[in-house]
Amino acid sequence: MKARILSPTPENIALAAAALRSGDIVGMPTETVYGLAGGVSLPLAVAKIFDVKERPTFDPLIVHVGSDSKTLESLSELRLVDLTGFKSSTRKRARALAQLLMDEFWPGPLTLVLPKHQDVPDIVTSGLATVGIRMPRHPIAQRLIDMTGMPLAAPSANRFGRISPTRAQDVDAELGDRINYILDGGRSDVGLESTVLAISPDAKLSVLRPGIISKTEIEEITGMPVDRPPASKSRRQSPRAPGMLESHYAPHKPLTLLPCPVLKLRKEDFKVPLKSDRLGVLLLSGDPAAARKHLAAVLGVENDRILVKTLSRTGDFQEIAHHLFAELRALDGSDVDWIVAEPCSVEVGLGHAIADRLKRASAGRS
Ligand code: TXA
Ligand code: MG
Repeated sequence: MKARILSPTPENIALAAAALRSGDIVGMPTETVYGLAGGVSLPLAVAKIFDVKERPTFDPLIVHVGSDSKTLESLSELRLVDLTGFKSSTRKRARALAQLLMDEFWPGPLTLVLPKHQDVPDIVTSGLATVGIRMPRHPIAQRLIDMTGMPLAAPSANRFGRISPTRAQDVDAELGDRINYILDGGRSDVGLESTVLAISPDAKLSVLRPGIISKTEIEEITGMPVDRPPASKSRRQSPRAPGMLESHYAPHKPLTLLPCPVLKLRKEDFKVPLKSDRLGVLLLSGDPAAARKHLAAVLGVENDRILVKTLSRTGDFQEIAHHLFAELRALDGSDVDWIVAEPCSVEVGLGHAIADRLKRASAGRS
């Protein structure tokens, strides 16, 4: 099987929608990362998603809804959420919070974890009593959902534990030999997966996965404290955010997180080149030539043994997020044999999401 990469013409979107209705699965662009979509009420299609990704079944999928489903009532009508799942004493508050967050952030990179309707197949939610739902902002995703006529369950379109794809060709590299269609919607704007926010039955909020919509922003909008559970220490599933494993987003090549920014490195900080013929460097910010020169001098090697990719010359977090997975993938596909990455020291806002992805990409390696 070799996937067809479809340009997003109305005919091709209709073709992908028909494939989805018939139970096939399709690579779908979104503003965060590309997803691997299947009809939410077609359990065989959903099973195919797990199979193709080699994803463990304890890791639930996010359900993507169309642009006319921006109210809790419409999500109940779609038989996705069940509001009686909220405790009666706090139901009103939980509903108001959910609606406020939808009004503010949908369509966009916020996944809300809400009590699930019994009609959502267990395979979608890994048997949990909750379901993650988001309304993507990408116009092609919206059109695809509308034309399919049902919400789409979609995880990121990478093999399990690997780097999330931000371009159609990345999906092709990950899964092109296993699926029929990839809709090409250009480069994903955000570049990191959505913020996953749970609204508990007693109307408490907790971020299960950090993303571009930050804890602070959610606190400002809702006037409520938002809980941020610590990253799971074990390689096994964490009970609250299944699938958020310590090791994730990993390149094939070894990746080590540096102890400090490249320009501050001293020889004693740096043990990697002993194992490396050609070193790849993921620079969060700054000038790649200066970083290369500094590293070459510190390590006492020729410049051409070092390949540097910069995510943002100015250190802009949105730009860093936008380029992170694509540049990590580029280094992974280059001739370097080891990758080192600058750490993200700002662990608030988008910095938290970037730091989270870098730690998981390097987990077990450093
Ligand atoms: O931006 C995104 O969210 C992308 C695009 C394609 O929409 N999707 C994505 O899906 O990143 P995925 O499957 O790679 O990550 C989904 C994660 C799960 O691993 C889990 O941590 C969390 O979302 N999740 C989903 N449903 C949940 C639930 N009911 N309870 C707790 N966590 C849930
Ligand atoms: Mg993923």
